[in-house]
Amino acid sequence: MKVCVVGASGKLGKYMVQHCLELGYEVVGVCREKSVAKLADFKDKMTILPGSTNERELIKQAVEGCDGVLTVLVPWGVQQYSSGTAQAVMDFAKPDARLIFSCGWHITRDNKDVYSTMFKVVLSIAGRLGRFFRAIEIDDQVEACRRIFESDTKWTVVRGSDLEEGESQGLPVWSQHVQDPILESNKTRRIDFALFMVDALVKDDLIQEAPAIVGCQTPSALKYSS
Ligand SMILES: NC(=O)c1ccc[n+]([C@@H]2O[C@H](COP(=O)([O-])OP(=O)(O)OC[C@H]3O[C@@H](n4cnc5c(N)ncnc54)[C@H](OP(=O)(O)O)[C@@H]3O)[C@@H](O)[C@H]2O)c1
Repeated sequence: MKVCVVGASGKLGKYMVQHCLELGYEVVGVCREKSVAKLADFKDKMTILPGSTNERELIKQAVEGCDGVLTVLVPWGVQQYSSGTAQAVMDFAKPDARLIFSCGWHITRDNKDVYSTMFKVVLSIAGRLGRFFRAIEIDDQVEACRRIFESDTKWTVVRGSDLEEGESQGLPVWSQHVQDPILESNKTRRIDFALFMVDALVKDDLIQEAPAIVGCQTPSALKYSS
């Protein structure tokens, strides 16, 4: 299997590269020029294409011949970074390629997610501060996901809970909506978020799904897993 990781140099991206290489996949990674050094440990085992992830020609080259594309959707900047990245991936990947995108619980597919007041307040403050400093554009990550949900590609949007570092505990569990009891613990190890993204490449039951995930060893996962 040939896989492209868009946003390969970030924390989530590096874990995904690691998992893919362990599975024997051929890996192409896209990351900002200034971040290439962050992939030093993998440089002899993968192809690295430096540049902005919303550069259409770069993404076209990166996804060519790939059976799967793992995209870290980040709301950076105020120039449609997220939606530009998602659009380019959908436009240029092979029609039958599995496209897996990462985001957080704040993304909702059917407006049936119920958020706590605290969650809404934190999101609103982060959005306002991000816009003020022209650093983060959460609305554009929402727009990216809106376009993905409307597309007829083989997409999966993985909605991560709060993240923590630590050794792998295994494949996270998931549910449709963030208020579902199994997700109550709201914590996933980043390495396992990456594991779920990579595993989704071969899970047909996740095609056109937006799973919200939580660590499989968290109290709520242990309590409510059947
Ligand atoms: N952090 C959380 O608690 C959390 C919770 C739920 C879901 N998520 C989701 O998890 C995914 C990964 O998030 P993460 O927080 O763990 O971060 P991460 O994996 O470290 O990824 C950050 C990414 O953003 C890029 N980036 C940083 N600054 C940038 C800039 N100014 N312009 C363009 N790109 C820039 C980084 O590239 P460089 O390597 O080039 O810097 C890297 O690819 C995201 O989809 C996020 O929505 C995160």
